Amino acid sequence: MGDNRQPIGVIGTGYVGLVTAAGFAHLGSDVFCIDIDADKVARLKAGEIPIYEPGLEEMVQANRERLHFSTQIADALEHARLLFVAVGTPPTYSGDADLSAVRAVVDAIPASDRHALVMKSTVPAGTGASIKRVLAESGKQSLSYVSCPEFLKEGSAVKDFLDPDRVVIGDEGDWAGDAVVELYAPLDAPLVRTDIASAEMVKLASNAFLATKISFINEIANVCEETGSDVIEVARGMGLDDRIGPKFLQAGIGFGGSCFPKDVNALKQLAGNSGYHFQLLNAVIEVNELQKRRVIGKLQKHLGSLVGRTVCLLGLAFKPNTDDMREASSLVLSARLQADGAKVRVYDPIAEEEARQLIRGVHFATDALDAVQGADAVVLVTEWDEFAQLDWRQVADLMAGTLVLDGRNALDADAVRAAGLTYEGIGRGALTAIA
Ligand code: UDX
Repeated sequence: MGDNRQPIGVIGTGYVGLVTAAGFAHLGSDVFCIDIDADKVARLKAGEIPIYEPGLEEMVQANRERLHFSTQIADALEHARLLFVAVGTPPTYSGDADLSAVRAVVDAIPASDRHALVMKSTVPAGTGASIKRVLAESGKQSLSYVSCPEFLKEGSAVKDFLDPDRVVIGDEGDWAGDAVVELYAPLDAPLVRTDIASAEMVKLASNAFLATKISFINEIANVCEETGSDVIEVARGMGLDDRIGPKFLQAGIGFGGSCFPKDVNALKQLAGNSGYHFQLLNAVIEVNELQKRRVIGKLQKHLGSLVGRTVCLLGLAFKPNTDDMREASSLVLSARLQADGAKVRVYDPIAEEEARQLIRGVHFATDALDAVQGADAVVLVTEWDEFAQLDWRQVADLMAGTLVLDGRNALDADAVRAAGLTYEGIGRGALTAIA
């Protein structure tokens, strides 16, 4: 890629920070990555990637000479004018976003008319204005500020960086906004250049809308079970309407991850703090919580009491192609099953190490066939490709019972049935009626 690209700083080397850093290095910038975690910085310097993200390791390796890692913000300030902020903004007990890591960065940057903070972390609308106020109060008003929300999805983050649906840049029309526009220019993506508060809201509203779409189709799925309809057919028919679109209409056992649950709650809270009751989002959150728990009812419908029953969970990560366990449906399921007296066997091809820190009292199996051994029921929790390839006759031989609960509608129902097993999906009333 081109020479003479401007160097940048990236503060925070989590999913968003590291992908952003590797992406801009790939586009030709020298990137100075800063993290307060000295151990992580040491690992990154040694070429170790602390997260599982397809294509990221290769991209980091290929651009090693342009990627610099340090614990000192001064290293970034010395070389770069734009400082991308990609630190965590986890939820607090109140449901508001915890902005302490963002504030620490703001405090650590000295007064300068040569530098700009470019906010990548998801923050409540209005954060830019309050940061600008803090900067003014501490005599640092010459620092520029740009909101540049990130829309990448875990599991396809590298591809999403290189081929984004849009780039959103909120700024005050100064040099920093122009510089960020220039940085993204090679990607040739649709650009939305707007004010800071609107850019912040684009991110929150987009995630809230997508989460609403999922809770909506999950409720349609639940009704399909009563009406003898198949939600897959229903979603196909709905999705062909241009105004609806086919994406994010996969019914399942709820959304998780580091963004949707947190951002939906943060938007609800943000609205509430200013006196507006965002009724729709309450329902989106509640439907999602109930959706995870419906699995227990389905198991009881087939097995009766779960005391002493063995239930196998296939997949633990909140979605395939990631080792991220944050807000994964498996966390609720494994705990609920154990509380109801079931023995739980689990397997995930990638997320086991993360899962071991969060899930107790279950048996971690070495592979899918090991996991299904002696199970009265198998629940597909995360739709890793390898589970769709399972030999269901072999599975049937190893199980003690016959129930396969497809929590993501990702399995071939006919193949499962042909092996003599009982198939139940989510919202597949038509299939259940035939069975
Ligand atoms: C999401 C947004 O898509 C991304 O733009 C934002 O930057 C961060 O949050 P991510 O959390 O990586 O990305 O996951 P995503 O692929 O969007 O899936 C989120 C959850 O929704 C997963 O648990 C997934 O299983 C679930 N989901 C998704 C459904 O249940 N049905 C669907 O149709 C789509």
